[in-house]
Amino acid sequence: MKWFFILSVIAWTGKPVRSSCPFEMSPARVVVRFGDPISVNCSSELDRIESMGWESVVGGTGTQFNVSSVVLEVESVKSWELRPICFINPVVGDQCSQTLSVTVYNLPESVSISQPSEMGPMVEGKQYRMQCDIVNVKPLRNLTVHWHKGNKIIATDTFDQSSPSFPVNTSSFYDLTAQRGDNGTEIWCDAKLDFLPDLHTIHSKSREVIVLYSPAFTKPENETLELSARSEIILNCTAEGNPTPVYSWHLPHAIQQNNQNENQPVLTPSPQLPGTYNCTASNSQGTQTKYFTVIEATRNYTTLAALLGVGLSLGAVLFVGLLFLLTPEGSFYCSKGSYMPGRPTSSGPV
Ligand SMILES: *[C@@H]1O[C@H](CO)[C@@H](O)[C@H](O)[C@H]1NC(C)=O
Ligand SMILES: *[C@@H]1O[C@H](CO)[C@@H](O)[C@H](O)[C@H]1NC(C)=O
Ligand SMILES: *[C@@H]1O[C@H](CO)[C@@H](O)[C@H](O)[C@H]1NC(C)=O
Ligand SMILES: *[C@@H]1O[C@H](CO)[C@@H](O)[C@H](O)[C@H]1NC(C)=O
Ligand SMILES: *[C@@H]1O[C@H](CO)[C@@H](O)[C@H](O)[C@H]1NC(C)=O
Repeated sequence: MKWFFILSVIAWTGKPVRSSCPFEMSPARVVVRFGDPISVNCSSELDRIESMGWESVVGGTGTQFNVSSVVLEVESVKSWELRPICFINPVVGDQCSQTLSVTVYNLPESVSISQPSEMGPMVEGKQYRMQCDIVNVKPLRNLTVHWHKGNKIIATDTFDQSSPSFPVNTSSFYDLTAQRGDNGTEIWCDAKLDFLPDLHTIHSKSREVIVLYSPAFTKPENETLELSARSEIILNCTAEGNPTPVYSWHLPHAIQQNNQNENQPVLTPSPQLPGTYNCTASNSQGTQTKYFTVIEATRNYTTLAALLGVGLSLGAVLFVGLLFLLTPEGSFYCSKGSYMPGRPTSSGPV
């Protein structure tokens, strides 16, 4: 046993006694979950082997003679650190050995998301530190944590500190600056060991983000509207905010006050009169005001004239076209020259 110990020490110092032994390990390296079995065949094509064996805390074979392969068999790996060594004593020459690379891993027992200040609604523009806790994971350096928001990965965290030889608890942090667009989205984290397929990824529960934000008008510009005989003017003050904004209107004429439901985002003044109207949309996060300038239609006949103009132009075009057809020998210049002066235009009253 002492002999094996010395052998191990030599292996650890990285100075193989002899480098010429052709070792064959199958599998070449082992990644095993704590508690699972392993079976590794160490063989050699060396011609003359006196003896060989596995030296290991568990599953060691002792020295075996007249063999060209030895199998390390562990029913259940119950150790976090395992360094089995396969050794060969050739008939001629020095002993040689090779250490098997074994990674004993533990999937996170739990992955959970938390926020230090008990997760109430967030406020737009403020920053919140979210925390993802991963319990009992090994090896830490192979852990990857992803942060998800909606269907996007917003951050990836790795832990490259020298891995302890036992499972540990760790946390990943994400600083979220609350934005109005985040309201209603889900945030969660997941943890995985990079050498395992995605199937073994462990997800936290998701958190719904609620963001409080001040009202913003759907149409933010002030508006100027012209009174018209044919249609009513509609003042649209719709705003989006969380909580839902409340509205209040300031109307220029006392007579209009009684006729309105003041808390509506959209208002149709009655009677329809010129003046400056304004509305405010407000909630706990702020107040916004929008102005509407309603003016008299200055030239009531413009529309009519425009219509008339369009009609006349169409008529003229048809007329010219007809003439062109009817006088096949007449040149284009001729007909155009003759009738152009009479052509009315659509630009205003003639
Ligand atoms: C170990 O490997 C050698 C060489 O490939 C093979 O001959 C032998 O059958 C293997 N032993 C076991 C138990 O699989
Ligand atoms: C764990 O991560 C280290 C460092 O990135 C890497 O060298 C090693 O191969 C990984 N372990 C496994 C089993 O893939
Ligand atoms: C990790 O956290 C778990 C549960 O909170 C606890 O039982 C365990 O002792 C912790 N492990 C370490 C290494 O701190
Ligand atoms: C914010 O999200 C909550 C929860 O999904 C939802 O009930 C609310 O309507 C949203 N508010 C706005 C203004 O989108
Ligand atoms: C709307 O008009 C008010 C008052 O004239 C002005 O203070 C404000 O900046 C204007 N808003 C926009 C978006 O133009």
